Amino acid sequence: MREKIEELLIEVEGFHAENPAAVEDFRIKMLSKKGLISELFNDFRTLSPEDKKVVGQQLNALKTKALEKVNTLKEQMEETINQQKASGKYPDLSLPADFALSGSRHPISIVRNQINSIFEKIGFVISEGPEIEDDSHNFSALNFAEEHPARDMQDTFFVEKNPDIALRTHTSSVQVRVMKNQQPPIRTISPGRVFRNEAISARAHCIFHQVEGLYIDKGVSFADLRHVLDHFAREFFGADARIRLRPSYFPFTEPSAEVDVSCPFCKGKGCNICKGSGWVEIMGCGMVDPNVLENCNIDSKVYSGYAFGMGIERITMLKYLVNDLRLYFENDVRFLRQFSSAH
Ligand code: DAH
Repeated sequence: MREKIEELLIEVEGFHAENPAAVEDFRIKMLSKKGLISELFNDFRTLSPEDKKVVGQQLNALKTKALEKVNTLKEQMEETINQQKASGKYPDLSLPADFALSGSRHPISIVRNQINSIFEKIGFVISEGPEIEDDSHNFSALNFAEEHPARDMQDTFFVEKNPDIALRTHTSSVQVRVMKNQQPPIRTISPGRVFRNEAISARAHCIFHQVEGLYIDKGVSFADLRHVLDHFAREFFGADARIRLRPSYFPFTEPSAEVDVSCPFCKGKGCNICKGSGWVEIMGCGMVDPNVLENCNIDSKVYSGYAFGMGIERITMLKYLVNDLRLYFENDVRFLRQFSSAH
């Protein structure tokens, strides 16, 4: 038995551990109820009284040594963990877990999807066209006179100095493509990017987004236009939204109008967003000019139609109170994350 005690003493003294789990294993192996040292205490009971005197001392010394070893190792390990924590090397396991960052839709996409869905529900289909257009689709088929200032170098980005090919300046170009390829009834909306050669500021950008709407059939009237715009305003801005139409001019519509919506912020009372007027402009619209129908091979004596076009940035601004157009393009995540709960 003495030999066994000495063996264990050597094992205890020489024991090293890499981690707290190894110390705990060692404690269980030596000192638990069924551990090696406890077993020796059981055997101890069978010894003669003389042997008990000597062996008892050794056995107690072994138990104390083992306990001391376990305690010192535990303390040392705790201390190193604390030091690592303090120096930031060891993660604080009591902290809540990091949530994985998920992406969110861009506000322009959110609003475009809302507009699409409002019109899709009433039977409009989505159509798209190319961003690089020719003069015919972007201007001449839409009844722009040869000398119209919108064709000017100052407004339009021409592609490789070819005066016939340019980045589209509006999504009205898609109207022409649809009308040339389909016969009425036509009920379509065309969302997309447009480009204008303008200096970038809080209120203007050289790239922005529009949604164009077009409805052609027999007997389509200005009252139908007014009705669909009313519906859109209430669906998009809320049931209390009102619209008003002001006479205007566009080459491709006759008559033409600008559409104002009652200010979504002050509900028409007057604030600094609507500059005190209670109204904010949201789009242009009108009855498709018979010249445009004829340019697209649609018989203007049989068919009539309306069209409208709105800037997505502008109505996103009115929905989310974004006051600088540049924010939409800079992709600063602090801006984008604010839309993560929208759809
Ligand atoms: N294309 C016009 C623009 O870019 C917007 C517009 C106005 C479109 C009136 C239309 C319309 O279809 O009828 O400013």
